[in-house]
Amino acid sequence: MPARIHTVATIAGDGIGPEVVAEARRAAEAAGARFGFGLDWVDYDLGADRWLRTGEALPDAVLEELRGVDAILLGAVGRPDVPPGVLERGLLLRLRFELDLYVNLRPVKLYPGVSSPLAGVKPDDIDLVVVRENTEGVYVGAGGTVHRGGPAEAATETSIETRAGVERVLRYAAAKAQERAGRLTLVHKTNVLVHAGDLWQRAARAVAAEIGVALDYAHADAACLYLVADPGRFDVVVTDNLFGDILTDLGAAIAGGLGTAASANLNPESSASLFEPVHGSAPDIAGTGRANPVAAVLSASLLLDHLGEREAAAAVEAGAVAALPGAAGYSTQALGDRIATAVAGGGSPN
Ligand code: IPM
Ligand code: MN
Repeated sequence: MPARIHTVATIAGDGIGPEVVAEARRAAEAAGARFGFGLDWVDYDLGADRWLRTGEALPDAVLEELRGVDAILLGAVGRPDVPPGVLERGLLLRLRFELDLYVNLRPVKLYPGVSSPLAGVKPDDIDLVVVRENTEGVYVGAGGTVHRGGPAEAATETSIETRAGVERVLRYAAAKAQERAGRLTLVHKTNVLVHAGDLWQRAARAVAAEIGVALDYAHADAACLYLVADPGRFDVVVTDNLFGDILTDLGAAIAGGLGTAASANLNPESSASLFEPVHGSAPDIAGTGRANPVAAVLSASLLLDHLGEREAAAAVEAGAVAALPGAAGYSTQALGDRIATAVAGGGSPN
């Protein structure tokens, strides 16, 4: 019996989700065998099929069970035969909100062997993390429609930011900056969003001073420009939910695409955090064996790190990175084989 056992729920979900989760799981298993811990996987049948069959996106009883696991690994949710928003709101966002996963940590890193669409950048030039607030902003769903369909139709989508919500994510980001190069950049739009921007700005100054990190600021539009023109200026970026959503797709693009973009939805104070690749369910390539499992494997690395399995996390990341050069020439499973072999043996998969 291994000394430590971690219970990990998997929500493989839709499209390429099951294919990439299978490879992420193998990489994590290989790390467990090498570093002396066990993983107790519990599979949850959630996603498009479940919803079409039963009308349930996330039954309350399942949510209660998920509160008790050590971590959750999610593949992807969403399919063209389910109306947009049903699974996104009913499953993914509900998990983020109900489990109070207020940090969405999204590394933006250009790995060797991956080509960036930016001219002349080398791997070391792009290495930052975005800390996206994950439970507030426009995502809270406050708003409504009146006179729907008529000439007087009006819709509101209210963005809600709380001092406590802003402060806790800033604390996490500042601590992260302290572990890294010590540079924290707040991204907002204080020149237009004067109410929420002011709250973020004052809270960021207070937290940065308290924790002792340098604080920089960029408007969200300028941050897009800097990400492309000078990504090296960023170390840790902290921002609200919607700006973070947009900025991290751009981040994924400059780091070579969604194939390597991983994310962690964390509540640092409780254990049931959720790990998922940034990519979606890609129904067009589902079942073809062409999905790149690396983003899911890197998400498993973040998961292991969160469980305190630091060496295993580093080995899984190294295994995924070693498999990257020429990855496009391999099937999902063949890449998974290369990664699992590298993780198990500590050597190169070649
Ligand atoms: C993401 C996604 C989600 C978001 C969608 C699927 C609800 O785009 O994780 O970035 O907007 O947060
Ligand atoms: Mn997104």
